[in-house]
Amino acid sequence: MAEILVLGSFVADVAFRAARLPAWGETLLGNASALGPGGKGSNQAVAAARALRGSGARVRMASRLGDDAFGQLARSTWEADGIDASLVDTSVTPTGSAAILIDDASGNNAIIVVPGACYTLTPQDVDRMANAIRGAKILLMQLELPLATVQRGLEIARAAGVTTILNPAPAVPLSEEMLKLVDYLTPNESEAALLAGLPVETLEQAEACAQALLARGPKTVILTLGERGAMACVLGEKPVFVPAFNAGPVVETTGAGDAFCGGFAAALLEDKPLRDAVRFGCATAGLSVTRAGTAPSMPQRAEIEALLRG
Ligand code: RIB
Repeated sequence: MAEILVLGSFVADVAFRAARLPAWGETLLGNASALGPGGKGSNQAVAAARALRGSGARVRMASRLGDDAFGQLARSTWEADGIDASLVDTSVTPTGSAAILIDDASGNNAIIVVPGACYTLTPQDVDRMANAIRGAKILLMQLELPLATVQRGLEIARAAGVTTILNPAPAVPLSEEMLKLVDYLTPNESEAALLAGLPVETLEQAEACAQALLARGPKTVILTLGERGAMACVLGEKPVFVPAFNAGPVVETTGAGDAFCGGFAAALLEDKPLRDAVRFGCATAGLSVTRAGTAPSMPQRAEIEALLRG
């Protein structure tokens, strides 16, 4: 069975909507709040699972949870979307959480995430999952686990010829040693700017930044450009630009990058060519921003296909 293995985080998202962000020391009356499943790893697993619904493919989550209510929220989330959680264990460290502040007008967000239990995953824990990684077709990772843990996952996957996707979020500087293990690197504008040390405002700058990143090791760089879409660059080839999809009014952009990564990974699993896989990811993200929440906002396969058909 073709499989995407997501080695990554789960945290509980606590989201607050208000007309603006508070200043330090200020208390602000908001308009709404919600508690829901989040964490970049889990969000991407949910996006991939929904995008693959009915295809017979499997999405597997590898992570660590606390023995608490947030951990139960993770397990019920994965069960509802048919995600295999047999590589998820439980520790004494509590499950993490994220404080998400959302601007009501634009849907833009600011986030503080405390990864909690999943951040105790070590390279040795990853070694124990080595056979599962080798058996997957795609390993999908983010940066809400310790860097050494991410590195080990990528090493095992690369040695076994498993396709690696790294979503370098939240942004931190990465070594060439790690970047060389990546088949598809999927930064957004600010992550790409930090990794390459270059501005990413115009499309020309985005391309220059992607080229600078390619020179550091990944085989393909896919820069997600928010409401502009995404740009895929392969060394020595013309960049592929895919415009964003307008699937309706923007409610919340939190998790849009996760939607892209999950949708893109699902399309790659089905052997779609690069441009089609990027379009699939953009359509997944375009739908997710029309809904509140992160994991709950991920669209189903039928919705993505309908949007792609126009
Ligand atoms: O990418 C969005 C996610 O980042 C949120 O769900 C939050 O948990 C943080 O990890």
